[in-house]
Amino acid sequence: MTPLTADLAETVSADELAALQLERLQWTLRHAYENVPLYRKKFAEAGVHPDDCRELGDLAKFPFTTKADLRESYPFGMFAVPQDQIRRLHASSGTTGKPTVVGYTEDDIDTWATVMARSIHAAGGRPGHKVHVAYGYGLFTGGLGAHYGAEKLGCTVIPASGGMTARQVQLITDFKPEVIMITPSYLLTLLDEFERQGVDPRASSLKVGIFGAEPWTEQMRSEIEERFALDAVDIYGLSEVMGPGVAQECVETKDGLHIWEDHFFPEVIDPFTEQVLPEGERGELLFTSLTKQALPIIRYRTRDLTRLLPGTARPAFRRMEKVTGRSDDLIILRGVNVFPTQIEEVVLRTEGLSPHFQLVRSTRGRLDHLTVRVEARAGTTAEARTAAAAVVTAGVKDGVGVSVSVEVVDPDTLERSLGKMRRVLDERS
Ligand code: DLL
Repeated sequence: MTPLTADLAETVSADELAALQLERLQWTLRHAYENVPLYRKKFAEAGVHPDDCRELGDLAKFPFTTKADLRESYPFGMFAVPQDQIRRLHASSGTTGKPTVVGYTEDDIDTWATVMARSIHAAGGRPGHKVHVAYGYGLFTGGLGAHYGAEKLGCTVIPASGGMTARQVQLITDFKPEVIMITPSYLLTLLDEFERQGVDPRASSLKVGIFGAEPWTEQMRSEIEERFALDAVDIYGLSEVMGPGVAQECVETKDGLHIWEDHFFPEVIDPFTEQVLPEGERGELLFTSLTKQALPIIRYRTRDLTRLLPGTARPAFRRMEKVTGRSDDLIILRGVNVFPTQIEEVVLRTEGLSPHFQLVRSTRGRLDHLTVRVEARAGTTAEARTAAAAVVTAGVKDGVGVSVSVEVVDPDTLERSLGKMRRVLDERS
């Protein structure tokens, strides 16, 4: 186990980090160019060569990589090492068409465990803690990514995976973990189960919750911290870049996620002009891996929208603002942009409503329509439900600028998440 005092994240200066990044970036560009035909072709088409990268800013001359590139190279076309050096594969669920396959060498798995251990430490986890991992195990990167990181930090891992919710409550009650790693929507499912079993979640052993894999709001943080009496922090990552542990919110500041820039180099671009934006401006997040052997990734278009900010709790590393939207989740309703997280904010501040909601898109006449279907909290009267619906309608109109319908339904009637929540149902004709 690497003792954490020796972890670079705790000691590196900004200048040292920049020098390390340049050296690693130049290696990555050469490695990709020499070993992946697709990169060689793309670099040639863009008229660039790895030797053209003399400073970090030169990265902007290189072409983007997209999910389509990975799909077209299915399954192993973008791997940069021979297959006998690949120790593990993961894959995205691939709701449309083929899944995206990613591979890891032994060193890649070690790097991943190191950044995950660093993330759990920054979240408040410590060697000797018990970590309940309720991210799904399997081809999804959440479970195994969290698992190896927690072991590397010197924790005791409880590999619960997702599902069998009643048993999860029992495991938490009996094993008394200090840390839980779970999607925020599945935590809400778990909370309901605590209440159903008459177990007080505030009295549980959990001190730290590390939540990611889907967007969640500050309002959701307050809801979770209040109902569970723990510190809720955000973790970000994506399979194409590694998995969870690309960026982590520090428990002492809870002010966005520090990006582990010694391994993942971020840029933010304007998604339309494709130009790099200065720090502080919102746009689409890109990542270039700096140390990955099996699947070097150059300027990967995440489609996640955020902005870069200077470091705070870990000053050498820049932060990214909480991702509240992904260009894929954007609903354009009669010309107005709506993200599910904007609705979440309104729902969670409305009295009488639970955090369980879905958005239903439909067609009324020739126009697109959006219905917010949300569960009442137990014991909310019919009058209070009507009042709550009116508050949400007005809140969305005011805050987002669109008219929506609101249906307040009985508790326990909407589908529950076991992992990543499907927020939007499309019933358009
Ligand atoms: O979701 C990896 C992960 C597992 C991250 C567990 C955190 C915890 P993918 O399945 O490839 O990987 O999905 C990646 O999920 O591009 C974002 O759109 C979204 N996402 C991940 N973390 C966050 C977060 C994993 N903290 C995609 N906030 C990303 C908002 C997130 N969105």
